[in-house]
Amino acid sequence: MSELLERTHLAVETAGSAPGTEVVLAGWVSRRRDLGSLIFIDLRDRSGIVQLVFDTERGTIPSAMETASSLRSEYVVQVRGHVVARDEKSVNPKLVTGRVEVLVQDVTLLNAAKTPPFYIQDGVDVDEAVRLRYRYLDLRRPEMQRMLRLRHQVYQSLRRYLNDAQFVEVETPVLTKSTPEGARDYLVPSRLQPGSFYALPQSPQLFKQLLMVAGMERYYQFARCFRDEDLRADRQPEFTQLDIEQSFIPLPKFQAMMEEMMARLFEEVLGVRVETPFLRLTYDEAMDRYGSDKPDLRYGLEICDLSEMAGGMAVPLFQAALADGGVVRAIAVPGAAGYSRKQTDELVRFVQAYGLGGLATIALQPQEVKSSMKKFLDEAQLRALAAAAGAAEGDLVLLAAGSLAQVRAGLGALRVHLGHVLQLADPNVFKFLWVVDFPLLSYDEEEGRFVAEHHPFTMPKWEDLDKLETDPQSVRAQAYDMVLNGYEIGGGSMRIFQRAVQERMFRTLGFTMEEAYRQFGFLLDAFEYGTPPHGGIAFGIDRIVMLMGGGQSLRDCIAFPKTSSGTDLLTAAPSPVSDAQLDVLHLSVRPNRPKDVKPAQTAASPDPADRAIGLASTD
Ligand code: AMO
Repeated sequence: MSELLERTHLAVETAGSAPGTEVVLAGWVSRRRDLGSLIFIDLRDRSGIVQLVFDTERGTIPSAMETASSLRSEYVVQVRGHVVARDEKSVNPKLVTGRVEVLVQDVTLLNAAKTPPFYIQDGVDVDEAVRLRYRYLDLRRPEMQRMLRLRHQVYQSLRRYLNDAQFVEVETPVLTKSTPEGARDYLVPSRLQPGSFYALPQSPQLFKQLLMVAGMERYYQFARCFRDEDLRADRQPEFTQLDIEQSFIPLPKFQAMMEEMMARLFEEVLGVRVETPFLRLTYDEAMDRYGSDKPDLRYGLEICDLSEMAGGMAVPLFQAALADGGVVRAIAVPGAAGYSRKQTDELVRFVQAYGLGGLATIALQPQEVKSSMKKFLDEAQLRALAAAAGAAEGDLVLLAAGSLAQVRAGLGALRVHLGHVLQLADPNVFKFLWVVDFPLLSYDEEEGRFVAEHHPFTMPKWEDLDKLETDPQSVRAQAYDMVLNGYEIGGGSMRIFQRAVQERMFRTLGFTMEEAYRQFGFLLDAFEYGTPPHGGIAFGIDRIVMLMGGGQSLRDCIAFPKTSSGTDLLTAAPSPVSDAQLDVLHLSVRPNRPKDVKPAQTAASPDPADRAIGLASTD
C-alpha cells in the first residue's frame, strides 16, 4: 500500500459501522502503545479519534507491523483495515468510538513529524506564547478545532438570517482614507503618491452610509476592522465585525430584527433559547445600578444609592463627598459578613485603582453589627443603611463616597470583581440587553471641546435636537449597544441623514465647515443627493464566538491572533523592512523618536489645525 487511497470513513464514522466493515482511514498519530506483538494507535482526524490495532495474528501484514512500531506522535498515516467490536471490558466510554476499533491490515506512512513542543490534547498547561508560536499545532487540539467550527457555524447562521431578510452582502475598501482619533489608524504608505497614506478601516461606517445613499437599503458585511489601540483580553488590533445598515426602518423594528437574529443564532448553534424582546436599560440606569454601560446581568449585586440617607449622618467621608456634589452608594455582598480585615482591605485596594478613596463597611454578623463607621454611627443607623442597601443578616455592605463618575466606576468594577471571585456568573446562562439613550457628546478636557460618544453621524433623539447648541451635554443619542454577559457585543445608531443636521453636529463638535469638508466632503456631498433615513449596527464577531464557545480571551477564537503587544508570534510581524522597500515609498525610519511625541498625531495629522473626527467609539 503506497499510493494515497481515497478515505472511506472519518474516524468517528467507524462508531456507527457494522463490525467487519472495510475502511480506509487517514490522519495523525495521537498516541501509540507498543506491546510488542500488539500495537495500539489512536488515530486522529478532523472528526475525532479512533483506536487502531496492529496484530499479526489477526491479519496485520508483517511490514505494517514494522511501520507501526516506528510511528511517533503526529506522524501522518493512512491505514486499511476493518471495524471490529471491542469486548465489553476494553470499551472506552470517553471516546465516541470507544465501542469499536479498527484492525489494521496495512499502513502507509505519509509523513513523519518532529516531536511537537507540547501534547496535542486539551487541558494541557502550555505557555500561550508557545501555543501562538506553533499555532498550527495548537489548532490541531480538539478544543481549538471546536472553536473554529463554532465560528464557522456562527457565520453561516447570521448569513442565513440576513440573506432571508433580503440583506445584500457588499465589500468595502480596506485601503481607505485616514480619519484619525477614536482609536488610532493603521497607516499604509502610498508608493504612487509619495507622502500620502491610506488607512486601514476602523470600521466601514462611511461606506455603509454611502451604500444607503446608493439605494441598497439593506446591507451587511463581515468586515475586518483595524484599530491601533491598547489591547485587552476582549480587544484585538484586527477584528471582525458583522456590519449592518438599513434604510427606512424605525428604530424599534430594527432592534426587534437584531434580537430575532441573535435568538436564532443561539438556537441554531447552541440549542439555547433566548427570550425576546431583550431588556432595555438607559445608559443612566445601567451606570447607576451596575456602574457599567455593559452590565453582566447573570447576578445581582446591584448598586444602591444611599446619598439621601447618608446626608443626615455625621460621617465626614459622606459629608465631604455630598458637599462636593458627589454621591454615596453601596453594594450588599450576600454571606460576606465574616470577611476578615485582610479580605476587606484587598477590596479597598481594588477600588482605589479606580480613583475612590476607599470603602466603608457594615457587616451584619449574627450577634453584632461590625463597621468601619462605628465611631460616627450607632447600631440603628448602621442597620438602617444596611437595610437600604438591601442587606440581610450575614451580608457585608460596601459603601463608597465620591464624585458620581468615581463611584460609578469604582463600584462597577468592584461588582464585576466580586461576581468573579464569588463565581456568581453561570457560564451556561446568556443574558442579553440593550443599553440605550447614550449621551450624544462628552466634553474632552484635553482638547477643550465636545467629542462624539459614538461617532459624529449619530442622530440625536428627536426630542433633544433643539438642545444641540444650547445644552449639548444633555442631548441623548439614538445610539444603542447590545450587551451580553458583561461584554458589549454590538453597537450602532440611527444616523443623521440631513445635511443641515450634520452641519449643526460638526459645529457643535467645534469644527468649521471647511475642516469638516476636508475630512468628510464626500459624505456631505452625498447627503445632498437624496439620502434616505437609515441606521445600523456592528457586532463584534470575535466577542460573540468567545462568549458562545466559553473562551477566556479573543485569542481563543481567532485562528491567528496577536499578542497584547500587537505581535504575531507565528510570523513575527511586525518586522523591520529593508531600506530598499522604504526607498520605494520615500520613507525613512527615525530610530530615536522623542518620547513626548504622540505617534498618532505626528503620523496622522501633520497639520495641527486639521483636527480629527473619530469614527470608532471606544468601548
Ligand atoms: P463600535 O466601535 O462600537 O461601532 O464597534 C462595534 C463592535 O465591534 C466590537 N469591537 C471590537 N472587537 C474586538 N476588538 C476590538 N478592538 C474591538 N473594537 C470594537 C465590539 C463593538 O460593539 N461603525 C460603528 C458601528 C455602527 O455605528 O453601526 C462601530 O464600529 O463588539
